Amino acid sequence: MIIQPKTARRFHEILLRTTMGATTSFLTSTDIGNTTNRFSQDLELIDEELPETLELTVNTALCCIIEGFLVFVGSSYVTAALIPFCVLVVYYVAKFYVKTSRQLRLLGIESKAPLFSQFLEVLGGLSSIRAYGWSKEYQRRNLIALDASQRPSYMLYCIQRWIGLVLDLVVAFIAVAVISVAISMRGSPSMNLLGIALFNIVNFSGTLQTFVTRWIGLETSIGAVSRIRSYVQHATTEDLDAESEALPEDWPRQGSVELSGLSASYDAFSDPVLKDISLNILPGEKVALCGRTGSGKSSLVSALLRILELSKGTIRIDGIDISKVSRSHVRSRINIIPQQPFFLHGSVRLNANPESSVDDEQIIDSLQAVNLWSYIKSKGGLDIDMSDDLLSHGQQQLFCLARALCKSSSIVIMDEATSSVDSETDTLMQTVIRSHFKGQTLIAIAHKLHTILDFDKVALIEKGQVVEFDTPQALLSREGSAFRALFNSFHKGSKE
Ligand SMILES: Nc1ncnc2c1ncn2[C@@H]1O[C@H](COP(=O)(O)OP(=O)(O)OP(=O)(O)O)[C@@H](O)[C@H]1O
Ligand SMILES: [Mg+2]
Repeated sequence: MIIQPKTARRFHEILLRTTMGATTSFLTSTDIGNTTNRFSQDLELIDEELPETLELTVNTALCCIIEGFLVFVGSSYVTAALIPFCVLVVYYVAKFYVKTSRQLRLLGIESKAPLFSQFLEVLGGLSSIRAYGWSKEYQRRNLIALDASQRPSYMLYCIQRWIGLVLDLVVAFIAVAVISVAISMRGSPSMNLLGIALFNIVNFSGTLQTFVTRWIGLETSIGAVSRIRSYVQHATTEDLDAESEALPEDWPRQGSVELSGLSASYDAFSDPVLKDISLNILPGEKVALCGRTGSGKSSLVSALLRILELSKGTIRIDGIDISKVSRSHVRSRINIIPQQPFFLHGSVRLNANPESSVDDEQIIDSLQAVNLWSYIKSKGGLDIDMSDDLLSHGQQQLFCLARALCKSSSIVIMDEATSSVDSETDTLMQTVIRSHFKGQTLIAIAHKLHTILDFDKVALIEKGQVVEFDTPQALLSREGSAFRALFNSFHKGSKE
C-alpha cells in the first residue's frame, strides 16, 4: 500500500521528465502512439497489474505445490514415480507456451500504438474530417486499426485454449494413474488419503493453467518496467553539461540579438533548413521575418529558442552565447506569442500569468488592453476555468497577447500571432503591440506585409537563407528586391 503508489508516481515522474526534456528530433522521430503507450498501458501495468499479479502468482504457485503434493502423496507414492515425468512435460510445454505468449502480449501492447496515433490524429482534425465529409472513411480506417490491434489478443486466446487442453491431458493422465491405484488398493487403510488425492486432482489442471497464465501476466508487467527503461535510455536529452553558465538576474537587459553563420537541420539525415544566417538585431529594434511558406521563418525562431539544434554558428543575446546557458533559462527570459494559442488546464489567472510574477491588477490591466476583461469578468473573472469553449480563436490570440503583456522581457518574439484574426482584431493587436512593446526588441514573423511597414528592419528569408535585410522602405524602393516582389504579390492577392 505504501510502495505501490510511490513506485507508480516515480515512474510517471521519470517518464514525464524524460519526455519534457527530450530533443525535438527525438520527439518528432518517435511515434506519438509509442509515447502514449508508455504513459498509458505501461504505467497502468506497473501501477495496477504488477502488484496484483505478483500476489496472485505467488498465491497460485503455492496452491500448485500443495495440490500437487496432496495428489502425489495421497496416491500412496505409487504415482510418485510419475512426478519427474509430469514435471518434465509441464516444464517443456510451459516453456514453449511462455515464449509464444510473451511475444503475443508484447505484440498486443505495441499494436495499440498505431491505434492511439490514429485516434489522436483524428481527434486533432475532427472538424476538418467532418467538414470534408470524411467521417465514413476515417471510421473505416479506425476499424482497420482496431482490428489490427486486437489480432494478438485473439491469438493469445487461441494459445490459452491450447495450453488448457495440454494441461488437461497431462492431469487426465495422472488421474488415470491415481484411479488405477485406487482400484488396486480397494480396502487398504490409505484409501482416505487417496480420496483427498482424487478430490485435488479435479482442480489441479485449472490451478496449473492459472499459474502459467499469471506468470505470463507477471512477466508482461515487469516488461513494462524494461520498456520504460529503454524509452528513457533512448531519449536524447536537451540539456547538456556544458550549458551551465550562470546568467545575470536581469538578462537580457538591452535585448540585442546577434546571429552569426547559423546553420541547422531537423535531423542528421535531412538538408539544412537554415543556411549560414547572419543577422544583427540592435536593442529595441522591430524586425520582421518575411518569406514564402516553408522558407524557414519558424525554424529560425525555433533556433532562437533553442528548440532546433544548431549544426553551425552562434546566437548571442546581449553578448551571451545562448548555447552555454540552460535552455529553460533562455526560454523563460524571452517573451513569446505563438501562432497556435496554447492554454494550460486551470484558471484564467494561471493562463494569463503562469509564472505568478504579477498581481491580479496587472493581469486585469493586460486583459483590458486587449478588450477581453469585460467579457471575462461577465463570465466570472480571473478564477473561472479556462475551458475550450470560453474564447473564440481570435479571442484566444488576444489572450496570448495579454499573457505576453504580463511578462516583462526585453525581447518579444511573435510567430504570425495575427495571421488568423479578423481585420478589427488585427488592428487592435497591432496598436497594442506598438504601444506596449515600445523600447523592447520585437522579432515578428509576418505574412500580412502591410502591418510591418513601420518596422525598423525586414529580413527576407528564402530557402533557409536571409537574402535581404534592410528597412522596409529601402527594400520597397530597391529595383529587383525580393521583398518588393513578395509585397506586390501579397497586395495583388489581397485585392483579388
Ligand atoms: N518538425 C519538423 N521536422 C522536419 N522538418 C521540418 C519541421 N518543421 C519544419 N520543417 C521543414 O523546415 C522547412 C522550413 O519550415 P518552417 O516551418 O520554418 O517554414 P516557415 O517559413 O515558418 O513556413 P510557414 O510560413 O508556412 O509557417 C520546411 O521545408 C519544412 O518542411
Ligand atoms: Mg511558420
